[in-house]
Amino acid sequence: MSTPLSVSFPESFFSDDVHSFFRSPVRDIFRKVDLSAICSFAGGYPSAETFPVSALESLVSTVIRKYGAQAFQYGATQGVPELRSALARRYGVGADEVQVTTSSQQGIDVVTRILVNPGDVVITSAPTYLGALQSFASYRADVVGVTPISDGPAPFAVSCGRALESCQASGRRVKMLYVIPDFQNPSGETLSLAERRALADLARRHNILILEDSPYRELRYEGEPLPTLYSLCPEQVVHLGSFSKIFAPGFRLGWMMGPAQVLDKVYVCKQSLDLCPPVLDQYVAAEYLSSGALDANLQHTIALYRSRRDRFDDLLRRYMPSGVTWAKPQGGLFVFLTLPPHVDTVGLYDRALSAGVAYVAGSFFYPGGMTGRNTMRLNYSFIAPDRMEEGVRILADVIRQAIGQ
Ligand SMILES: Cc1ncc(COP(=O)(O)O)c(C=O)c1O
Repeated sequence: MSTPLSVSFPESFFSDDVHSFFRSPVRDIFRKVDLSAICSFAGGYPSAETFPVSALESLVSTVIRKYGAQAFQYGATQGVPELRSALARRYGVGADEVQVTTSSQQGIDVVTRILVNPGDVVITSAPTYLGALQSFASYRADVVGVTPISDGPAPFAVSCGRALESCQASGRRVKMLYVIPDFQNPSGETLSLAERRALADLARRHNILILEDSPYRELRYEGEPLPTLYSLCPEQVVHLGSFSKIFAPGFRLGWMMGPAQVLDKVYVCKQSLDLCPPVLDQYVAAEYLSSGALDANLQHTIALYRSRRDRFDDLLRRYMPSGVTWAKPQGGLFVFLTLPPHVDTVGLYDRALSAGVAYVAGSFFYPGGMTGRNTMRLNYSFIAPDRMEEGVRILADVIRQAIGQ
């Protein structure tokens, strides 16, 4: 076995930005644990059953026959025209409003990079997506987490407004509001139309940008879709979409729609990051989208996840002790549990793991990580269906012991 080369640089050798990076505890779970040996509700992996593997086999050949060597060449920084047009048709926008990204994680990172100087404020819901918190930290943003506190039709937007005004009053510059309006990661919640309208108004009033991150939007299991923030306020919103949960995360493909001025900065920024998104993947995605196969597969994916969500909710109701609460999500991949206040899910994690079940402690999704210690995120898309009941039963037993019932 080769020995890793030892590093002799002092920590101060690395850039100031590096010191504000933090590791994803979720990715650490994957590194340390053989997830196939336990019942894992951690991670946000889609079910591999939803990947159209056999269709892809012929699709890749079709693309290579159609485009030849061009499928392996560098492509345009904005993305190949075929994919941009297919996305523009699907979402009813102009192709020049669409920038293809190398995943939506890159979209979050690039938008933060073009907007945020160290100390600039990013307002987000608390809890929120961990990968976004990592990006914000890497640019040394001052992240302000917001929870809805008032009553009324738009409590989240009201809290965002108050946070914004309080930051401005103390001389801090607010640049961006980061939201996941549909089936949020980790809470599973969806913002109402009143919230969306109020957020759009807030962005207009204060001239800030909303970063609308929507990788789960198309995984709706019931109810009517609500308008995107981008459709309500295209001049002030950057919308991020992703192929990860509706097609194949390994393709690392997403898209961004936004105002021309912002997209132009993104275009230049991406030149220093990856020159262009992966070309073969883009042609395959364009072909898959244009042929209608994506929509057909999406129907199958939605039916599969809907039944998993229903079963998971039934199992939680059957096994969880009293004092544990959650809301059944209308879509997406996650359920967020709240336990009695004295239970610390970070401290409980090793016990759960030894008992054979994994989750992600909720506090990791809160900016600063100091709150939400009695919460946990559970994913129901990835676990093998025949292990779901066993996993919920084990988790419920671990929680019952911690509660002291
Ligand atoms: C809210 C949210 N945004 C972005 C991402 C990153 O997705 P992608 O695979 O497109 O980078 C995830 C992944 O789980 C997510 O939950």
